[in-house]
Parts: sequence; C-alpha cells; structure tokens
Amino acid sequence: MYVCICNAIKESELRHAARRISGDAEEVYAAMGCQVNCGQCLMDAEAMLFEERELAIQPAVAA
Ligand code: FES
Repeated sequence: MYVCICNAIKESELRHAARRISGDAEEVYAAMGCQVNCGQCLMDAEAMLFEERELAIQPAVAA
C-alpha cells in the first residue's frame, strides 16, 4: 500500500525508514530523496513513524 502517492512511498518503505532515520515525516521523506508535495499523506505518515518507533523501543517478550 502506498502512503504517499506523490512520491510513490510504500508503507513498508516508510516503516523501514522510521527505524533508521530520525525526525518528522518531512525529514524522513527528505532523507529518502523525496519532498512533500500535496501534504495529504502527512498525518498518516506521522502516525506510522510514531507507531514504528514505539514498537522499536518495546522490550522483547520472552517466550
Ligand atoms: S501524497 Fe504525499 S505529498 Fe502528496
């Protein structure tokens, strides 16, 4: 699924980037070589960045 149609950024690409690039969506896009165009994706992109980073800092659960 595409998060950003203008830049053809897929959800999986953004989630992967969230773990290696700091900053808000505009900064992450810039690091990916993209820039915000229409801005329609920003709220969803910010939510995905937050969610992915929250998951990254949660401790692993022992089985
Ligand atoms: S959909 Fe992301 S900038 Fe337009």
